[in-house]
Amino acid sequence: MQGKISLEKLPSVVTEILLRLKVKDAMSQALHTAKKTNTLKEAQNMMKEKRISGIPIVEGDRLLGIISVDDILNAFDKGYIDDPIEPYMTKTVVFLEDDMPLTFAISYFDKYSFGRFPVINKKKQLVGILTSRDILMSLVQALNQEIKELEDKIHPEHPLHSPNKIHREFFIKKLDFENAGKASFEIKKILKEENIPQKIIRRAAIASYELEINIAIHSEGGKMLFDLEGEYLVITAQDNGPGIADPDKVIKPGYSTANEWIRSLGFGAGMGLPNVIKVSDDFKIESEVGKGTTVKSIILLKEDD
Ligand SMILES: Nc1ncnc2c1ncn2[C@@H]1O[C@H](COP(=O)(O)OP(=O)(O)OP(=O)(O)O)[C@@H](O)[C@H]1O
Ligand SMILES: [Mg+2]
Repeated sequence: MQGKISLEKLPSVVTEILLRLKVKDAMSQALHTAKKTNTLKEAQNMMKEKRISGIPIVEGDRLLGIISVDDILNAFDKGYIDDPIEPYMTKTVVFLEDDMPLTFAISYFDKYSFGRFPVINKKKQLVGILTSRDILMSLVQALNQEIKELEDKIHPEHPLHSPNKIHREFFIKKLDFENAGKASFEIKKILKEENIPQKIIRRAAIASYELEINIAIHSEGGKMLFDLEGEYLVITAQDNGPGIADPDKVIKPGYSTANEWIRSLGFGAGMGLPNVIKVSDDFKIESEVGKGTTVKSIILLKEDD
């Protein structure tokens, strides 16, 4: 990191992250240490192998000092690379505590010219090492997480709009109980494939099932149209008669003209159309006696409030 980081100039979301993150969240724990009796050459090999730029020198878990790439370069320059580490390590080590916020660590990097700080815990044991790269990496990670959460808020994992426009038609024959239910089954399948939220799939399944059963039971036969548009879906039931004289009456809960036989099959509670209305964001029924009935159920692809 070059230059000073002015915490006041950072966007507040970044400062908040840096205050929330602790040194222990960012530090490297895979700690590579050396003993004061190891040679500078050994330290250099370790840095090369582990791809690190500094090694704490310890005795047990007590921190004695730290050796850095700069010390190694000096040793090469001045020809003492095979000497033991001890006289050349930095002994007045400035360290961080694992519970400090990262803002604190940044101020340390600004204040001292070291490239890394050993990290100790409350018991003064060496628990990690923190470089400016570690801070950067943990900040990038936290920012990514923050952005992902924001994106999820804008585009939830289940899209609330479908990028695909889909149109399907299903034909329903009079009293064909064997096939009645197929349209709603297919509609459910399509919506699942389009990752539409489960709640909406359930509502579309209720509307389409009730409407196709009504075609089979109460009409001469007809068809169901299914349209998935960008932000809503439309289920349209069209039949070829006999039509309904008073559409306002048939949508009342409990109203049914189903005969005994239909009732014995489990239909005829007069709850089909009221249930379609309940699950629809918009509902229309148009009918002409002698010609036929068209019922439309529109469901918005948005989460219930
Ligand atoms: N496509 C249609 N053509 C003619 N009449 C219909 C049609 N759909 C519904 N109806 C009339 O509207 C009434 C009410 O329909 P609804 O679906 O609410 O109840 P149901 O079908 O009788 O009983 P349930 O749906 O509870 O099994 C029906 O009994 C019927 O008289
Ligand atoms: Mg019905």
